[in-house]
Amino acid sequence: MGSKLTAPGICTRKRRLGADPLVMLTAYDAPSARMADEAGADLILVGDSVAMVVLGHSDTMSVTTQEMAHHTAAVARTRPRAMVVADMPWMSYHVSAADTVTNAAALVRAGAGAVKLEGGAERVPMIEAIISAEVPVIGHLGLTPQSMLAQGGYRVQGRTSEAALGLVADAKALAHAGCFAIVLEGMPAPVGQMITDALSVPTIGIGAGGDCDGQVLVFHDVLGLETRMLPRFVRRYATLHDDGVDALARFAADVRSGAFPHADECYKMSPDEEMALGLYGHRG
Ligand code: KIV
Repeated sequence: MGSKLTAPGICTRKRRLGADPLVMLTAYDAPSARMADEAGADLILVGDSVAMVVLGHSDTMSVTTQEMAHHTAAVARTRPRAMVVADMPWMSYHVSAADTVTNAAALVRAGAGAVKLEGGAERVPMIEAIISAEVPVIGHLGLTPQSMLAQGGYRVQGRTSEAALGLVADAKALAHAGCFAIVLEGMPAPVGQMITDALSVPTIGIGAGGDCDGQVLVFHDVLGLETRMLPRFVRRYATLHDDGVDALARFAADVRSGAFPHADECYKMSPDEEMALGLYGHRG
């Protein structure tokens, strides 16, 4: 594997310039980060999806900066080759530039090499504040889960020509503000293509079609650990939930039948010491 990926190394990764597509995976703890890194991901996103797939919340809006920092630190401790990107949670970049920079700094101190935040041109002042504190920023446009109340649920965005042009304008504003990449979520493929064509920084799609400069999926979706919903854009490459339940059920059955543990799975004592305890020969 090559050297550690950085924001300057990623910001020129356009497929139209011959670059390989960027691969981003979410991870929320050390084992998932090791797996994503060993699989060759370019970027590991400590997504606020942690709220739903790990912490049991019904949306992403419940997670805090402190919780994001906790998960970011677990990922960063594995020292992956991939760049670690931490999601700024809802309300961590909405109130003031000072709060925004402080919250971004907490994620960088936890080990993030960049932060990601949701929203369009209205976020430019906060993005500029973070970048002026020397922290690289990834934008996130389209179906932005932190806007689920305002967007009326998890709805594909940019379906009309007017809305699509609005997304293109937002993407240009984010790139102009200095975002080194932009995640495009939940929009028709032609809109993902228009935005990708309009920008000199890479786009990373999730439900935004095949023309983006990279693709991102949630770890638990790719591996089939999360089975409660299957959005159109998810492709499952494993069935770890079902395989895991099957393995755990076999363990339970072995415990109940006495098949676990086997003698080979137990620590031994010398016969003399067992004799001294009056145990030798007592067990079959
Ligand atoms: O939190 C997350 O997992 C994300 C991805 C869906 C891009 O933001």
